[in-house]
Amino acid sequence: MRLAGKTALITGAARGIGLEFARAYIAEGARVALADINAEAAAAAASGLGPQAVAVQMNVADQASIEAGFAEAVGKLGKLDILVNNAALFTAQPIVEVTRADYDRLFAVNVAGTLFCLQAAAKQMIAQGTGGKIINMASQAGRRGESLVGVYCATKAAVISLTQSAGLNLIAHGINVNAIAPGVVEGEHWDHVDSLFAKYENRPLGEKKRIVGEAVPFGRMGTAADLTGMAIFLATPEADYICAQTFGVDGGNWMA
Ligand SMILES: NC(=O)c1ccc[n+]([C@@H]2O[C@H](COP(=O)([O-])OP(=O)(O)OC[C@H]3O[C@@H](n4cnc5c(N)ncnc54)[C@H](O)[C@@H]3O)[C@@H](O)[C@H]2O)c1
Repeated sequence: MRLAGKTALITGAARGIGLEFARAYIAEGARVALADINAEAAAAAASGLGPQAVAVQMNVADQASIEAGFAEAVGKLGKLDILVNNAALFTAQPIVEVTRADYDRLFAVNVAGTLFCLQAAAKQMIAQGTGGKIINMASQAGRRGESLVGVYCATKAAVISLTQSAGLNLIAHGINVNAIAPGVVEGEHWDHVDSLFAKYENRPLGEKKRIVGEAVPFGRMGTAADLTGMAIFLATPEADYICAQTFGVDGGNWMA
């Protein structure tokens, strides 16, 4: 078991990719705090995973909630070795329809949430003196613009940039900061994406999802389970010499 004795906090872990990462980390011997704004869903998810999982209510867009959530997680787990910054929101609309409220909402969760959770984890890890691993969830959307996805793309570009700066700053403390950039991943998130494309591109529900899946060089959309190998690897000592990088796990959708 590659994460035996390790503890992790995963934001946005009540469902989707974060929940799959929690399952994978526990299977590798870790204990995991599932932190989510949806306390009920996080509690249900944690009880489904068993005694190695604990639920923590946390709104990553709120500083007091971040501080309380990290304190609660460290109280329950005893220490913190790994953070996965996974919580995020998505929206899509033509540029002329972007509102200040959409922009603020997405940047508060996807960018400020990532930065200040990363900061809270780094403070804890520095105080412990044993280094740590921080994994940010970026996206192929952070590598290039997309016609209807301007705000989300900009937030994920910011996540890639923060991964570089924090990675360079924190490696002196033995804290590795890296990111994963998925492509298109099956789940409730993409059902929401599909419904927005149906609206703005005047398509039947499900069509956009089918088209993007067929366009992946690998031949299908990804699943959350396709991402767990990278999420585990980046949390192990095998990744000690890797910092400030963003890794595409996307079936070949994007190349540098
Ligand atoms: N699904 C994809 O195709 C895809 C592709 C590229 C990148 N990603 C990224 O992967 C990550 C996970 O995606 P997913 O598909 O599992 O998303 P999801 O929408 O299924 O799950 C997101 C979780 O975050 C939680 N959350 C939302 N706002 C929060 C807040 N303010 N504080 C705490 N928790 C909050 C939600 O309650 C939910 O449980 C995200 O960062 C996403 O941008 C996903």
